[in-house]
This record gives sequence, structure tokens and C-alpha cells, in this order.
Amino acid sequence: MILVTGASGKTGKSIVKKLAENGIPVRAMVRTSTQMEEMRKLGAKEAGIADMKDGISVNSIFKGVEKVYHICPNMSPDEESIGDLMIRAAQENGLSQFVYHSVLHPQVESMPHHWKKMHVEEKLMKSKLVFTILQPAAYMQNILGYWDKMMQGGVYEIPYSTRSQSSMIDLKDLAEVVFKVMTEPDHYYATYELCGCEQLSADQIAEIVSQKSGKKVVARDLDRNTWEIEMRSKNMAEYARETLLKMFQYYEQFDFIGNCNQLTWLLGRSPNTFGNFIEEFILENKIWE
Ligand SMILES: NC(=O)c1ccc[n+]([C@@H]2O[C@H](COP(=O)([O-])OP(=O)(O)OC[C@H]3O[C@@H](n4cnc5c(N)ncnc54)[C@H](OP(=O)(O)O)[C@@H]3O)[C@@H](O)[C@H]2O)c1
Repeated sequence: MILVTGASGKTGKSIVKKLAENGIPVRAMVRTSTQMEEMRKLGAKEAGIADMKDGISVNSIFKGVEKVYHICPNMSPDEESIGDLMIRAAQENGLSQFVYHSVLHPQVESMPHHWKKMHVEEKLMKSKLVFTILQPAAYMQNILGYWDKMMQGGVYEIPYSTRSQSSMIDLKDLAEVVFKVMTEPDHYYATYELCGCEQLSADQIAEIVSQKSGKKVVARDLDRNTWEIEMRSKNMAEYARETLLKMFQYYEQFDFIGNCNQLTWLLGRSPNTFGNFIEEFILENKIWE
């Protein structure tokens, strides 16, 4: 049995689905009974409610599982203390592998959410647990959050330079790697950087979306003060707001690019391209209808 934490988020859903489709018994850790139902529909054998910030609750959901895939909630100020609780529960329950969902370039101290993941990686290395660390780049799926605005207004608007590049990964490729590293022993104590092979700017992303959808879309950078005012009005938590601002600043100055060799090797094929990803999305969602 594999425990997937943060199972009902964007990342968790794709991983639960992939493991379950491949016949792996999954226990999904969620927060509500509605999410439990959703996890069962995705194929999870079990779903249980637990609070990642509560040691007793975390320990009880670890009972009877062999391995864990740990996904911390996005922009969590508690990533390190949550990591401590997960590691302790894995040790106390004798897990045979701890796979940690980290991020590309956790070494970057000026992005607090990366730096916290670096510290969790270090804790794992000192834990005496059998670990595997995955360091994914930004997901192609993030762009879909802008889809309606792109199709309605013809604008892809982001709070950093539209020339800044990233080497995005398709979550489906990531899920395939998770299945592999959790079912083959060759990946014990490995750390893998997981990136697509393209280095795309927002301008290029808009161009590709235009070509594939037939709707002219242009990228535009949004002033970060305007973004911040909007997020305050939407009550975004202060840690998330400040951390995202630091991330945008970093992307603008340095891009967010890694290498696709490890992902290509793990998949045994080329990673998905962004153009193909958008084509698949259009087809799956019958967007022309
Ligand atoms: N997005 C990217 O491009 C990208 C790239 C690389 C790495 N990552 C990393 O991927 C991770 C996951 O991102 P995501 O967007 O999939 O996360 P997410 O949507 O925030 O999902 C995390 C899940 O954890 C649950 N959760 C929150 N607090 C909890 C608690 N105290 N106890 C139990 N469950 C709790 C949430 O439940 P509710 O739904 O009820 O809130 C949510 O379903 C993050 O650590 C992020 O840094 C993301």
C-alpha cells in the first residue's frame, strides 16, 4: 500500500490516478469526506482524513502502509515542520521508501518555498529512511488556469517578464516517473531533476496556444503591485503572497530552466512537448464544440 499525501491537490490527483490505473493499492490522505469520495472515483483503494500539521493524525494514517509519496500543500509556511512529522511517522511505522515531491532548484534561497524543500531534502538524507527525491519544474497544467481568460480576452497575463523562460513538465510524465520510482528498487537514494526539453517564454506559450486553438492570444506582463493589490482583495495568505512575489522576481531575473536528460531516461522516451499537451487538452475537452 502506498500512501499519497496532499492527494486531492493538482499534483496528488494525477499521481493517485496513475498508481491506481497500474494496479497499485493507494491510500489517499485528504481533508474532507467529499475528497474521500473523489479519491475512490480516481481508483484509490482507501482514502482517509488526516491533518498534516497534527502528529497523531499523521501517524495514524501511516499505519499499514509500505511506502509514502509526500506532497506538501503549495506555498505552505509549515513545509519543514510537516516534513518532520512525515519523516517521524515513516520511521515509526517502518516504511520501506519515502518519496518526496520537491521542486526544481530547491537550492535557491531567495525563493522561500524552494529553500524549505531543500531543508526537507536534508532531513530525509539524515533520516536513515530509504528515500527518493523528485524535483519537478513548473507544470504545463498551470497554464490551464489561464485558459478561459486566454480564450475570452486573447491575453495571457503574468506578473513577470513575458520573455522569462521555463522548462515545464507535463504532470502526466511526472506521474509516470512516480510509478516507476515507487515500483523499481533502482531508484533508492536518488534525486531526479524533472524538466521538459523546451525552454519556453510566455510569448512563445501564447504563440503555441494561438496556433493550436485558433484563437489569437498574446502574452502581457502585469505590474506586480497591481497583482499584489488583487491578491490582497482576494485574501491570499501573506506568506503565499510574499513568496509568490519573490518567485516572480526570480523568474524575471534568472528564468526557471533545468535539463531534460533525467526525465527522458526515466520515461524511456522524449517528454511531452507543450504543443502536444495543448492539443491533447483541446481534444480531451472537445473545445471546438
Ligand atoms: N505547481 C507547480 O508547477 C509545481 C511544480 C513543482 C513542485 N510543486 C509543488 O507541488 C506541491 C503540491 O502542489 P499542488 O498545487 O498540487 O498542491 P495543492 O493544490 O495545494 O494540494 C495540496 C493538497 O493538500 C491538502 N492540504 C492542505 N493543508 C492540509 C493539511 N493541513 N492536512 C492535510 N491536507 C492538507 C489540500 O487540501 P484542500 O484542497 O482541502 O485545501 C490539497 O488538496 C507543492 O509543494 C508545490 O510546491 C508545484
